[in-house]
Amino acid sequence: MSADGTALTRHAGIDVPLICGPMYPCSNPELVAAVSEAGGLGVLQPVSLTYVFGHGFRDGVRRIRSQTGRPIGMNALIEASSKTYHRRMSEWIDIALEEGVRFFITSLGKPRWVVERVEPAGGVVYHDVTERTWALKALDSGVHGLIAVNRRAGGHAGPLSADALLEQVGDLGLPVVCAGGIGSAAEFADAIGAGYAGVQMGTRFIATAECSASDAYKQAILAAREDDIVLTERLTGVPVAVIDTSYVRRLGLRAGPLARRMLRGRRTKHWMRTLYALRSAWTLKRTAFDRAGATEYWQAGRSVATIHEIVPAARIVHECAAALRVADLGQEEP
Ligand SMILES: Cc1cc2nc3c(=O)[nH]c(=O)nc-3n(C[C@H](O)[C@H](O)[C@H](O)COP(=O)(O)O)c2cc1C
Repeated sequence: MSADGTALTRHAGIDVPLICGPMYPCSNPELVAAVSEAGGLGVLQPVSLTYVFGHGFRDGVRRIRSQTGRPIGMNALIEASSKTYHRRMSEWIDIALEEGVRFFITSLGKPRWVVERVEPAGGVVYHDVTERTWALKALDSGVHGLIAVNRRAGGHAGPLSADALLEQVGDLGLPVVCAGGIGSAAEFADAIGAGYAGVQMGTRFIATAECSASDAYKQAILAAREDDIVLTERLTGVPVAVIDTSYVRRLGLRAGPLARRMLRGRRTKHWMRTLYALRSAWTLKRTAFDRAGATEYWQAGRSVATIHEIVPAARIVHECAAALRVADLGQEEP
C-alpha cells in the first residue's frame, strides 16, 4: 500500500483498508463503532439496527456516532421488492446523510438513484458484485467502487474465487474490495498485495468481544473448518453460507419443489422472496442471540478456516495494519 493509502481509504476517510461488512443480524452498534474507532470502516445494517436491536433508525445511527467520531458506512439493499420497502430505504439513506454518513454499500438492484442522492453530499457508493455482468451494470450506474463477493464469503456467496473475480472486474477503473474468505491479517495483506483496494470481513468480526451474537455461535465459528461451511437455500431462497450442524442437516439444503417453482416464476418470484426474507429475518434473529444455542442455524463464511480466537474488534484492525506495514517493508528491501 502506498503512503497515501488505497482508493478505499481515501474514499472512506479511514486509516486501514478494512471494512467490517454489514451483517444481518450481527451488526450491533457497538461492533460497528469499534471497527471505525480502530481505524477501519464499520458498516451499519439498517434492518439489524431497527428490527433486531430495536432502535429508531436516526437514534441508532446517533448511538453509533456517540461511540466514534470516525467515518461509518451504511448498507442499502435496494432490490425493489415493494414500494413501501423502497420508500423506507430511501428515507433511511436521507437520514444517514443528515447524520454524516458518507459511505454506502448497495446490494442488488440498480444503484443509480443512490449515487444521485449520495454524490451531491460528497459521499461514495460501492456496489456488491459477484460477476463482471453486474460490475458493468454498477459502472453504468456511476458507482465509485465495487465490493467483490467471492465464493468463500459468508452471507450470499458468489460463484467465483477471489483471484478469478479480480481478473473479471479489475480493469473497470474502479477500486475493488475483496469480500469473502479472509479471516487473518496475513490473508488480508495478501489480498491488498494482489491488487485489491481493501478487504471486507464479516465472519471474523462475529467472533469478537463487541459482537452481541451468542457465545455458542462464536464458539461454532472457532470450531468450524472450511469444509464445514455449506450453502443452504432454505433461508432466503438463494444459497446462503451456514455452518453445517445437525439442525441444518435435518432441514436439508434445498428449497422445496413448490418454493423452487415460485422462485423461478416471473410474477411469483418477488412475492416468494419477500416471504422468505421475512421468515429468515425472524429465524436468524432468534438463533444468533439464543444464549442456549438450542437452534444451530449460524451463518458464516469459509474464513472460519483462519479464525481461532475471540478477540476485540480493534485487535483485528491493528493486526491488519501491522501486516500491511510488514508487507510494504518487504517490498522496499533490495
Ligand atoms: C452473518 C452474516 C450476515 C451477513 N449479512 C449481510 C447483509 O445483511 N448485507 C450484506 O451486504 N452482506 C451481508 N453479509 C456479507 C458480509 O458483509 C461480507 O461480505 C462477508 O461476510 C465476507 O465474507 P466472510 O464472512 O468470509 O468474511 C453477511 C455475512 C454474514 C457472515
